[in-house]
Amino acid sequence: MARVFGPFFVLALVFSTSIATGPGTLQDFCVADLKGQVLVNGFPCKNPSLVEANDFYFKGLHMMGNTTNPFGSKVTPVYVTQLPGLNTLGISLARVDFAPWGINPPHTHPRASEIMTILEGSLEVGFVTSNPENRHISKVLCKGDVFVFPVGLVHYQKNNGNTNAIAISALSSQNPGVMPIANVVFGSKPDISTSILARAFQTSDEAICNIQRKF
Ligand SMILES: *[C@@H]1O[C@H](CO)[C@@H](O)[C@H](O)[C@H]1NC(C)=O
Repeated sequence: MARVFGPFFVLALVFSTSIATGPGTLQDFCVADLKGQVLVNGFPCKNPSLVEANDFYFKGLHMMGNTTNPFGSKVTPVYVTQLPGLNTLGISLARVDFAPWGINPPHTHPRASEIMTILEGSLEVGFVTSNPENRHISKVLCKGDVFVFPVGLVHYQKNNGNTNAIAISALSSQNPGVMPIANVVFGSKPDISTSILARAFQTSDEAICNIQRKF
């Protein structure tokens, strides 16, 4: 049996692998030409002979983000636009700073899973699973702890203490994208009509207008 099905089994494995992960990289690198005029999925490649060390380099992630804002948190991204060498590699990084009791409000990354490690302080983190369960999975993390937020799921973090907190996240996309729930629902341009949101949230037009004004 194994001899008969062997080659087909191997072929099936090859195909299922390529379907699950795409064709993989086809060259050593494709440093983003951020000013490229060609529209492709990602960025066109800079001429490899012009590529230099700085294309694979980002400076300054030791710097604290400015958390003076209504949420008390700041994300410092190291995505393809900050580090062009990430183009086509499917990874990126971000530093997240939190003021005492600050939050990174509920949001999703449409293109990436996120693995976060706490460098300083303590964070309460969580995510919610899809319908119909909508299970809320949450945990309090301390320095050195690592937590993963699966791709696409709504998640959040909150500083659980009186001191600043710092986290570093790795993301499985060069350009993970972010959709803060409040901004996309209440701050779209143009607005989603108040009556639609009032019915969706089972509340009054007035309550919706109050939130829309803030976004
Ligand atoms: C931080 O951001 C606030 C609000 O935008 C601003 O007023 C303040 O000057 C900033 N602080 C620094 C150190 O850049």
